[in-house]
Amino acid sequence: MARVGVAFNLKKAREPEDDEPPDAQAEYDSPATVMAVAEALRQGGHQVVFLEADEFLPERIRAENPQVVFNLAEGLRGEGRESHVPALLETLGIPYTGSGVLSLALCLDKPLTKVVLRESGVPTPAFRVIAPGEEIDVGGLRFPLFVKPAHEGSSMGVGPGSVVYGETDLVRQVNMVRDLYRQEALVEEFLPGREFTVGLVGNRFLHAFPVMEINFDPVPPEHGAVYSRHFKEHWDEDRYYLCPAPVDERLAAELVDLARRAFRALRCRDVARVDLRLDGAGHPQVLEINPLPGLAPGFSDLPRAAAAEGWTYEELVNGILDVALFRLGLGHLASGVLVERRMLA
Ligand SMILES: Nc1ncnc2c1ncn2[C@@H]1O[C@H](COP(=O)(O)OP(=O)(O)OP(=O)(O)O)[C@@H](O)[C@H]1O
Ligand SMILES: [Mg+2]
Repeated sequence: MARVGVAFNLKKAREPEDDEPPDAQAEYDSPATVMAVAEALRQGGHQVVFLEADEFLPERIRAENPQVVFNLAEGLRGEGRESHVPALLETLGIPYTGSGVLSLALCLDKPLTKVVLRESGVPTPAFRVIAPGEEIDVGGLRFPLFVKPAHEGSSMGVGPGSVVYGETDLVRQVNMVRDLYRQEALVEEFLPGREFTVGLVGNRFLHAFPVMEINFDPVPPEHGAVYSRHFKEHWDEDRYYLCPAPVDERLAAELVDLARRAFRALRCRDVARVDLRLDGAGHPQVLEINPLPGLAPGFSDLPRAAAAEGWTYEELVNGILDVALFRLGLGHLASGVLVERRMLA
């Protein structure tokens, strides 16, 4: 059993500032999620200390002296924000759960992630990056296209209007992304098929939870088949999330195989969630990798997928900590969830 620091950034109860997009805080955790993670760790037998990851984090870490940190922190600002807390912890010599500095920074950069995927033989939609001020030219890409910010998560800047069918839509959407999010627009070929997400926990042995399908059937037609911010926030009933996904064994195996290959290509550790969609020919392609997947109990995709396999929330949280502890050579501090689940093979 360990003294575990939970590092987090909270959604603040305030209006967005003038220069922020309306969904600027979408990635941050609610106090309820942080408390749920802490409670799960306590049930795993650990002592928990809270480490809000703001400008005073270094002082807090010194005062609380954790043996290991359970990292939920999305970071405050900057293109590599998710890597800041791990970088600080490495500087201080404190071990932590999840992916390291390199993977966290890289996965936040969707175009660079796609370059690594492509080089690793993992299919991902063809794309162009259009920087602020640059001429809007998509080269050989064929409409319909999908436009999103190059460096965001949690469906920031993604909605029904992200699917563009011609030049006028394209220019409007690229300019919206560049003006509101002050960054490059990523323009990708639109994948018209079904959407899936695969949750992974582990390292050398990498456990995949059952594939989850994002079900667009109950969605109003004008919204379209896009896993938007609105979808993630408002459509949380079970009928929107099919897990295990109703797919044949071959497709399920292919999705899991691609998710694992993406995890390894991006050098992820301990936990991640990989988002995929089928192309026009029915073949899966990887959209992106989330090395800090949401852990809101009963709500986020990863806890839903784990529950579909019979894992309680406590088992998921302690499972993530345990794989990290075994990876770090600190297995004697683990709660034993993994041993029970035979995940050490
Ligand atoms: N090329 C594409 N073709 C079709 N749909 C896409 C494409 N890219 C993104 N989408 C849709 O937009 C959603 C959000 O995109 P993506 O997963 O890349 O962004 P995100 O905001 O980082 O997500 P997360 O909340 O998982 O961090 C996807 O779940 C999917 O529904
Ligand atoms: Mg996604």
